[in-house]
Amino acid sequence: MLAGLMGFFAAGCSDATNTAPESSKDAFIDSVLSTLTLEDKAGEMTQLTLDMVCVKEGMNVDEPHRLDPEKLKHVLVDLRVGSILNCAGHAYTPEKWHELIGGIQDKATEKPSGIPVLYGIDAIHGPTYTTGGVLAPQQLGLAATWDTALVRKFAENAAQEVLASGIPWNFSPVLDVARDARWPRFWETFGESPRLVTDMGVAMVKGYQEGPSPIAACLKHYMGYSRPLSGKDRTPAWIPERQLREIFLPPFAAAVEAGAATVMVNSGETNGIPVHADRHILTDILRDELGFEGLVVTDWEDIRYLFKRHKVAADYKDAIEMAIHAGIDMSMVPTDTLFPVLLAELVREGRIAESRLDESVRRILSVKYDRGLFDTGGMPPSIEDYPDKASLEGTAARAALESMTLLKNEGQHAVYPDQPILPIGGTGRILVTGPTANSLNALNGGWTGTWQGRNPKYNTPGRPTAVESMREVFGADRIDLAELDMEFGQADIDAVTRSLHPRTTQCAVVFLGEMPYTEFKGNVETIELFQNQQDLVKAIHATDVPVIGVYVGGRPRTHSAIEPLLDAFLMAYLPGDYGARAIADVLSGDFNPSGRLPFTWPRHPSSHLTHDCKHTELNEGGFNPQYTFGSGLSYSPVQTTNLEILTGESANMGDTVTVEVTLQNTGDRSTTETVIVYSQDRVASITPSVDELAAYKQVVVPAGATSKVTLDVHTHNLGFIGRNNMYIVEPGYFGLRIQDQFAEFELIAP
Ligand code: BGC
Repeated sequence: MLAGLMGFFAAGCSDATNTAPESSKDAFIDSVLSTLTLEDKAGEMTQLTLDMVCVKEGMNVDEPHRLDPEKLKHVLVDLRVGSILNCAGHAYTPEKWHELIGGIQDKATEKPSGIPVLYGIDAIHGPTYTTGGVLAPQQLGLAATWDTALVRKFAENAAQEVLASGIPWNFSPVLDVARDARWPRFWETFGESPRLVTDMGVAMVKGYQEGPSPIAACLKHYMGYSRPLSGKDRTPAWIPERQLREIFLPPFAAAVEAGAATVMVNSGETNGIPVHADRHILTDILRDELGFEGLVVTDWEDIRYLFKRHKVAADYKDAIEMAIHAGIDMSMVPTDTLFPVLLAELVREGRIAESRLDESVRRILSVKYDRGLFDTGGMPPSIEDYPDKASLEGTAARAALESMTLLKNEGQHAVYPDQPILPIGGTGRILVTGPTANSLNALNGGWTGTWQGRNPKYNTPGRPTAVESMREVFGADRIDLAELDMEFGQADIDAVTRSLHPRTTQCAVVFLGEMPYTEFKGNVETIELFQNQQDLVKAIHATDVPVIGVYVGGRPRTHSAIEPLLDAFLMAYLPGDYGARAIADVLSGDFNPSGRLPFTWPRHPSSHLTHDCKHTELNEGGFNPQYTFGSGLSYSPVQTTNLEILTGESANMGDTVTVEVTLQNTGDRSTTETVIVYSQDRVASITPSVDELAAYKQVVVPAGATSKVTLDVHTHNLGFIGRNNMYIVEPGYFGLRIQDQFAEFELIAP
């Protein structure tokens, strides 16, 4: 049948890419839709996991994966399934992906409709399931670069490898705004600021969809997923509409505006309603308000969960009816074959209108059309076209470097006692220890090689661990490794301190943090740093050897008891395959760090403050996190003075306010400085935040140089969600702050 479709397509338009005029695309989709039976449509709306078409012994898929011809026929030809996802367990070579996807698409030609399968995957920080792919930092680290151009470039590169693996659809980016460090998917986000998440998200969507090898982006998890009351994955969130619109909606709205092709739904419940059954969120807001015309896919098994877990539906059929009416287009079923059968039954029984299925199928076909599947049959490109890794590595390595965020640098330098401890100079021995010192998995985090990212078998061959890069950069003879796993105890700590050479060990670099996890596997009862890691720091400090802490992890563990014992502290996030070298280059001073924290690091496990907290949250102790949002030091400090508003003491609604500051590099190295402007609404009808991120800009300030920089603050961005849940900008006085510099202007009513 595919040949027929392609024939029609060739006749209908001359250009076989997504640049074809909308009308010919619409005509094509209309014509395909008109040929589809109810069963074809229900099948198109079904997404199954790769396991479902592979040879399996009981619960276990045979290794390496092989397509099972019988299952493939049942799924594609009998059930007419429109989409397959994921890796069924772990990464494969591009050649193996081609074999699997080629086999699937081959069989898809036998579907009564002949429509190719839309394959989707979680390639969230590069081609995470393609062996040997180029893996950049996870999103939290990307956000710490504050460099949207770099993030866009990273996404373009990732798209090249994902598409070359034969996969046109990426379940990325995560646009959840991280407001609670306990949440085990904190590291998958761009941090706590709706504005930064928005900018990064738009950059990533454009990178995926508008680069040289475009793939479809998927915004997830729409919406309100990241702030469950308990901090645990997929537990209830209570988020008033005002906060939903103020904090959680803006990144999705902007990414929809930027043309994102698909959206994945939040698996949790918000205000007592599972989002998969929430028509207000999925249709009133997403379709009617934001004007999203793309494809909405569920998250994993979430329609079934409406009756199994959430108990809002009596049975599977009830659940399907509910989800489809709420606004779902495609069900990530993903492990049963009942969904399409029951969906068709619901239509036959008159419980769902067939025209409702037409809407969804039209959106699915539109994504398939835009990805060129009707031309290629969804067949992977030639393996010879796989991009040259060398051309992609620079961006990933650069992103790892730019993400490195130096949060403390005091202590005493080995050679120059009046200077901070970093960069490590001298020639003495360096003790390297801690559970994340010698693990590539720790640097990459979850969704890498495997779902939990813990199996070294699927690591990129040849990429170094942190200690390996330290040996390269400092010389192997200077590095003493005292290896520890996460479970180490007092005896191991005693062994570490015994291995110190009091006269020749210049400093200890202690790699703290967490080993990979994602989703519920990363739920915790406290975010305090593991006791054994704190004991390790205490024990080394007690020997008088200076301690440099490097944190490899994706959520801020509190460590206020040992923080004073650290002479320096470097936040490395989950920097990916090129992270080890980035850490070593920062510690050695080969790279002058420029990363800025994209969240507020709490001082205590129960403090969940953000930079945009309310005045009443400052309380007696004041706003006193361990490290504030936007923190980050360099080796050549830049002083900020003379904040001035160039546009005068007042501005009219809609105007742009221009601020200027003087930057003075007081050191002897060129520094990339991120200038961050916060706005402060003095009085408002909804309690204003202490600070709101209003604008930011990166500038390079050469060694010893003084320069002026201007930034624009758009007054239409100075609003909030008002009492009627609508966005409003109120006139009155506004403060602007950059570091400790303040200025004020009046916004005049129209
Ligand atoms: C996760 C999604 C992911 C999906 C497919 C779910 O469990 O919540 O983020 O895209 O699985 O792998």
